[in-house]
Parts: sequence; C-alpha cells; structure tokens
Amino acid sequence: MTTASPLPDWLREAVIYQVYPQSYADSDGDGIGDLNGIRSRLDYLAWLGINVLWISPCFASEFRDGGYDVTDYLAIDPRYGTEADLVALFDEARSRGIRVLLDLVPGHTSDRHPWFLASAGDPACDRYIWTDGEPGAAGEWVASPGARPGRYLANFYAFQPALNYGYARPHPDEPWRQGPDAPGPRANRAALRETMAYWFERGAAGFRVDMAFSLVKDDPDRTATAALWGEMREWIDRAYPDRVLISEWGDPATSVPAGIHADFFLHFVGPALRSLWGNAQGSHAPAWGQEPCFFAPEGQGSMTLFVEYWRQAHRATAGRGFAVVPTANHDFSRLACGTRTAAMLPPAFTFLLTWPTLPAIYYGDEIGMRYVPGTPDVEGAQLGPEARQGSRTPMQWDGSANAGFSTAPADSLYLPIDPDPARPTVEDSRTEHGSLLHTVRDLIALRTTHPGLGTRGDTRILSETYPFAYLRAGRYLVVVNPAREPATLAVPGLGPVTRLHGSGVTVRGQRVEAQGFSHAVYELATPHTVLP
Ligand code: NOJ
Repeated sequence: MTTASPLPDWLREAVIYQVYPQSYADSDGDGIGDLNGIRSRLDYLAWLGINVLWISPCFASEFRDGGYDVTDYLAIDPRYGTEADLVALFDEARSRGIRVLLDLVPGHTSDRHPWFLASAGDPACDRYIWTDGEPGAAGEWVASPGARPGRYLANFYAFQPALNYGYARPHPDEPWRQGPDAPGPRANRAALRETMAYWFERGAAGFRVDMAFSLVKDDPDRTATAALWGEMREWIDRAYPDRVLISEWGDPATSVPAGIHADFFLHFVGPALRSLWGNAQGSHAPAWGQEPCFFAPEGQGSMTLFVEYWRQAHRATAGRGFAVVPTANHDFSRLACGTRTAAMLPPAFTFLLTWPTLPAIYYGDEIGMRYVPGTPDVEGAQLGPEARQGSRTPMQWDGSANAGFSTAPADSLYLPIDPDPARPTVEDSRTEHGSLLHTVRDLIALRTTHPGLGTRGDTRILSETYPFAYLRAGRYLVVVNPAREPATLAVPGLGPVTRLHGSGVTVRGQRVEAQGFSHAVYELATPHTVLP
C-alpha cells in the first residue's frame, strides 16, 4: 500500500468519455477515424460537458487486436495522424477544459515489436518470458518464431507476448520464473516509465491502463503487481503530480490502495457491472438477459449485488481514489442492446451521473447507439463467442453519407454504419427536445453544478429494488425505475422537495410513484432530514 499524494482535484470532478479512435470521426476520407477527426468534434464534447477524454490506443500497431498489439509505444500510427496532431488535440481539448488520457498497454507488445523480435533472436534477452522446452507451468505458451528455441508466454492473444515483470513466486527449478527485481523486469519497468514520461511531456493527462492486473505472474493476491503500481505512483507523484492512472483491473479495493488513481468495474470481473447492465460480452443474442440485471425492462434484477460490491470498493478507496462505472466499452455491449432500447436509457444515465463513482460514457451511448448484431469481424474484434465489433461501429453524427463519419465509399469504412434507418444521430438528437442526448447533457450539468451528486457527497440507499432510490449529501433524492412496470416506494420522513431533473416520477407526501422507465432527482427543502 502506498502513501500516495492527494488526488488531483480535476479527477474528483471527472466525467469520462471513451473514444475508439477507428470509429469516431474520419478527417482524411480513408474510412478510418483519426486524431484530427476527434479534434474536429471537440466542440461537441465540450457542449456535452465531459471533461476527460480517453482514447483507445493510437500507437504504431499491426492491428490484429484493434491497436492493443503495439509495435512502438512512442509513435502514433500513421492511420491516426502524427504526434503533432495529438499535441494539437491535447492543446485544443485543454482550452475547452477537457483532459486527454491515452491507453497504455504495459502487459504485452505485438510479436512484431522490435523488442520482441530481438528477444526471439537472443537467448540472453529476458524482456519477455521464455522457456527452453515445454514449460511445466500453466499459462499460454507459444512456439518461438525466431532463432531462439523454446516458447514464450502470451498475455492475451498468442501474438501478444507478455512483457517480463517477473513472478511473485520465483523458483530456481523454473528459471523463467524470475523475481520482480531481475534485470529484465527492471528494464521493463524503466521502459514503462519512459513511455509514460514521453506522453506526459507532450500533454497527456494520464493513461487508461490495459490489463493492469496482469503484470507480475503467479501473483494470486496481486501483492507483487500492486507493489509495481505503487512504485509507478510514487514516481508520478514526484515527477508528474497532476497526472493519473485509470486501470482496467476491475478490483478497486486492491488497485486503488496500491496506487492506481481510479479503477473500472468490469463486466468480466465479479458481478458488479453485470448486475447493473448484464453480462453483455458482445453476443448476438441480448446476452444481458442471461443473468437478471437491474437496468432491464423486465425488472427482474436487484441492486443488491452491485451495492455490496460498491460498498466494499468504496470503503477501500475512500480518500485514495475511485471506482469507475462505464456505460460500456469496446469489449462489451452497449447500453442499447437487445430489447433494451435507447428510449429506456434515461434511468441508467440518471444513476450513472448521480452516483459517487466516476462515470464513463462510451462514445455514442449518449445518443443511444445500439450494439449492432451481425457486424463483421475486424482486427481481432471477435473474441471466441464475443462479437465485440457490434460495439465498435462508427459514430453516428448526422443524416449525410456514412452518418457523417467519413467521406470514404461505404464499403471501405472501418466497420459498416448501423444499417437501421431509424438509427439515432447527434444532429437529430440535438434538435429533438427531450432526447436522450439532452437528458445526458442535463445530467452532466446537474452533477457539475451540484457537487453533492458527485464523488464528494455521501450516499444513503433507501431502496435496492424497483425503484432504486438514494439520498446524496443528505439533500438530493434520486429515484430510478428502469423497468417497464410502475413501482412505488414509501419514504417515511420525507418533507417537501423540489424537482431538479426527471420525468415520470411523482412525490405525494411521503410516497414516491415511479412510472415505467422513470427517473428523477429532487432537492430536499430541509437537508439532512432523517430518513429511514
Ligand atoms: C483489454 C482491451 O480492452 C481489449 O480490447 C484487448 O483485446 C485486451 N485488453 C488485450 O490488450
């Protein structure tokens, strides 16, 4: 556990927005989104009110895993533009109050990264994890492609060799199990700092850290991996104190005390996110129906699993950092998926933006873009049965060709646009009074102007079933009913309230009546009333 410096204030107020750069905005007409495309949309993001932009990897890559197979951490892939374009994006974003996070992939490189090619030719190189023969340990071991005999350990896909950060339990009989302080792991930690420093110097506000949990091997309680991140945090606090790390780890109670500033709840780690949105790993079926989840029209879920997990994370992270709740990401289904349509989403956003975790909005979710079944596989998107590509289709800007994403011929786009003629667009949503986009924007503004609705206010839960209801900072009552059926709740002690936001909820005395798909935020006339 580190004794980390105070958190940057800006992180406490963060409303994060993730862009998958391939799919956001194409400025040069090659069918693939790019940095100048993102830059051209900054006014939209500022209008929406987000203040942190996370861009999935934009580094040199072979693109067999959408850019998570990096061949050079210090170079922008030409498909996205140049380093100067990225610096211009940093600067122009900052002038609108938006900080930019890059995506750091510390656990593995591409097998075409020069580090790996050198390692495959030189048995003395220990930047990766190699065995001479058939390894006796569990793990995914892949035959050497080079002059070096033996096998290497893969971290994800076979073409993503694990960088060697050592083993928590080294063993002399298994020489590939080096300790974290062996020369190879030390060199990799130095390289990690070098990569971070390079982009910090150019204006990155921090990194989303891919598979941050995966670095030290055979580390069941993650103590050694936590120590590695503690070391990185000490260095960041010293050298770049206003920059942050937001991890793909899925266990804030471990990652944040270790030194990570904020950590995502993840669909593949524990029930927390699945019990909210469902187990929606890009299946063609409405897979979120596999387990009852709370934000489903059938109303068969409960917030209890989420709340228990969140409480535990909250206790462990209080004062040190945050858990992050994403609407979705490029690995799992969007909020609009299967029978859960865009019109049903305002309660989900009301919860997301009035809960003390940090909110992260996946591009397009703010207009209700849907998970598109049948989207073709591209760049390693298909992961076993998980068709992740259905969540990676191009952003829908307007009614022009290719939904305004690109001027390229439709058949040369990175992925096809959602073919649904009724697909939502930013342009229509901005014009339509009461659209999901306006609801999301209003909620972001509400969170921004009422700090008690954000990370600073305490949280008191009044009901974990339909409607979910809670009190923030002793003065805001939030009610969300994401189910089709109306639901009511008695709130003894509730005095007069003023509605700040919402639709479909009525307060009659001490009784709250919530129509199907309703949501509301009230301010209590008498704050800190004792409610049950
Ligand atoms: C998690 C990323 O989000 C995912 O897209 C990628 O395939 C794996 N890590 C491997 O880097």
